[in-house]
Amino acid sequence: MKQLYFGDCLDILKDMYAKYPQGFIDLIYIDPPFNSKRNYNILFEDVDMTDTKAQREAFADTWSNVSYKDELLLLADLNFDLYEFLRILDKINISKSSVAYLTTMAVRIHYMHEVLKETGSFYLHCDPNMSHYLKLICDLIFGKVNLRNEIIWCYYGPGSPKMKQFNRKHDIILWYSKGKQWTFNVDDVRFPHSEKTKQNYKPGLIGSGFKEADHKIHKLGKVPEDWWSDIAIAARSMKERLGYPTQKPIKLMERIIKASSNEGDLVADFFCGCGTTIAAANKLGRNWIGADISHLAIKLILNRLTDPLQEAGKKKFLKDIEIDGFPKDIDSAKQLAKSDELLEKKSKHGAFDFQHWVVEFLLGGIRNPKDVADGGWDGYITFLKNNKEKGRVLIEVKSGNANVTNMRQFVDVINKEEADIGVFVCFAEQVTKPMELRAKEAGKYKGYKFDRIQILTIEDMLDDREIRMPGGVDASTFKQSVNDVRPEDKPPEMF
Ligand SMILES: C[S@@+](CC[C@H](N)C(=O)[O-])C[C@H]1O[C@@H](n2cnc3c(N)ncnc32)[C@H](O)[C@@H]1O
Repeated sequence: MKQLYFGDCLDILKDMYAKYPQGFIDLIYIDPPFNSKRNYNILFEDVDMTDTKAQREAFADTWSNVSYKDELLLLADLNFDLYEFLRILDKINISKSSVAYLTTMAVRIHYMHEVLKETGSFYLHCDPNMSHYLKLICDLIFGKVNLRNEIIWCYYGPGSPKMKQFNRKHDIILWYSKGKQWTFNVDDVRFPHSEKTKQNYKPGLIGSGFKEADHKIHKLGKVPEDWWSDIAIAARSMKERLGYPTQKPIKLMERIIKASSNEGDLVADFFCGCGTTIAAANKLGRNWIGADISHLAIKLILNRLTDPLQEAGKKKFLKDIEIDGFPKDIDSAKQLAKSDELLEKKSKHGAFDFQHWVVEFLLGGIRNPKDVADGGWDGYITFLKNNKEKGRVLIEVKSGNANVTNMRQFVDVINKEEADIGVFVCFAEQVTKPMELRAKEAGKYKGYKFDRIQILTIEDMLDDREIRMPGGVDASTFKQSVNDVRPEDKPPEMF
């Protein structure tokens, strides 16, 4: 099974539980954000990802507005102790946004526990802001006795010279098993012994207390401690880095997957971001499920998995992957557009609509944070005009009828907004001659051979035709979005 889901993992988990109430997943790892409702694309644009304070503020803003009461009530039926615990937190003076966050996590973790196999493992990646609360929540869901490890992942990075406290440089990964039996492939994750221990185990010492079998095991290395300092934070300088905020290093995921699953097992990540868990699981011959609420994440995962493949391999790989919540062909795209027109805005799994699919998934752009009616623009892409200046492509998406009046309005918007290029998206059957003429009238993009206003049909895009802009789409928004200027991590010290 290789399956990607777009949407809120709560809806996805509920569906899975209804289908497999006895559990079917071997390993779940999650690395949820502090704020699950915030659109990460916005972070690319306006939050300096090197500034943790700015990130936290961005997160906190949204959580304070999340309505969690319904999910809290849902918990009363699912796990009364958990409900009581959260209700007490709600009563005492911890912030509302923290209660909103914890309630949101509690319901989702409850369902993750349900969909795990009896022998399954659950890893929750968090940081010291919330880890103490999350541990209590997991104790109430998995049972305290099933906490296998609290893993401390230490990394290195710059701090401010004005700091009045120690530089916070560790994350916490809580590992719970569902039951009394679980997978732990220690031989696949052993650490090398220290030089001192190696000396003590010299073959000559056989007979002085060490048995042959001890020597064999010794050669494999030692059982790792529950703190890891040998994995650098999301390999900024390496090719691995995709620019996705909070991307985790693949080495970290490989260790967890090797330790707690076997080849052919099913590994799931319900907050999968740019797909580090999925990439590691795929590489290690595991089946996998990934879910994310952002289109951009799903698109990135697909690119990440298929980029190294040749064209034929790509097509086959994509055929083998199921993507839930996304149109795969023109008929399903039309169906989605139609449901949009009928204002059935929500897909099975959340706030997914035709415009978002086009802007984020097909074009890799960023959607307009303000939902605008006709006569505006639905998304944008930026590109580098030169070393300093960014250019802007505005996108307008038509799910229903499109006509020359719409095109005229769009050209006006492009001029008013002083955008560089405009892309008008609709189905092929909607394009008319007057529309094409009106677009042509806007002329070429200065200094280039292509039009300033371009009509791109859904059919074109499904056929891999792209917007024409300086540098091509590869030079566009996403790749430029993270201005990663942090120095290289200090090389890990060996203990
Ligand atoms: C911290 S990032 C995960 C990063 C990931 N570990 C990686 O290495 O790329 C958290 C992800 O959770 C997603 N997310 C937030 N709320 C969600 C929800 N309710 N359901 C599914 N995904 C969600 C966000 O879009 C984001 O991509």
